[in-house]
Amino acid sequence: MPIAVCPGSFDPITLGHLDIIERATYIYDSVVVGIAGSPSKKPLFSLKERLELTGEALKGLKTVKVEPFDRLLVEFAKKNGAGVIIKGLRAISDFEHEFQMAHLNKNLDSSLETVFMMASPEFMFLSSSAVKEIAQYGGNVSDFVPANVEARLRAKYNQR
Ligand code: PNS
Repeated sequence: MPIAVCPGSFDPITLGHLDIIERATYIYDSVVVGIAGSPSKKPLFSLKERLELTGEALKGLKTVKVEPFDRLLVEFAKKNGAGVIIKGLRAISDFEHEFQMAHLNKNLDSSLETVFMMASPEFMFLSSSAVKEIAQYGGNVSDFVPANVEARLRAKYNQR
């Protein structure tokens, strides 16, 4: 199958995101990871930092490229020639929001399909927000994020 986009704020990228993106590369010829500016979410990391961290974490995946976007997701997907939006689904709590976004995106562009991938069990309850909270209080996040992100979180929170 040709091109899929995998969108998110990636503030920061976690092993759960990595797992979904890697699994997407087994199905699609090319995967475009779209990093949304998401200013309303007041990200911890700037868009530039998120691009850097995500690019580093994904550099082993040769069919993946990382791009920023600050427009509608459907427009970003079209611009990249993608026919599919990949979203990871964790606990049931994700469902309502993702269901809404999938339907709105379908309404905006009926040629685009949203495909949901179940999170792997070990990442079912993992989120960027939880990672930031744990890191902020000096907790160990090495099971949850790639090494480059762990180091950057420590630097951000002035920890050794
Ligand atoms: O990782 P997140 O923050 O849950 O990702 C949300 C994201 C970036 C996928 C979503 O906010 C999005 O698609 N933003 C782009 C703007 C857009 O198209 N909004 C309408 C979608 S219903």
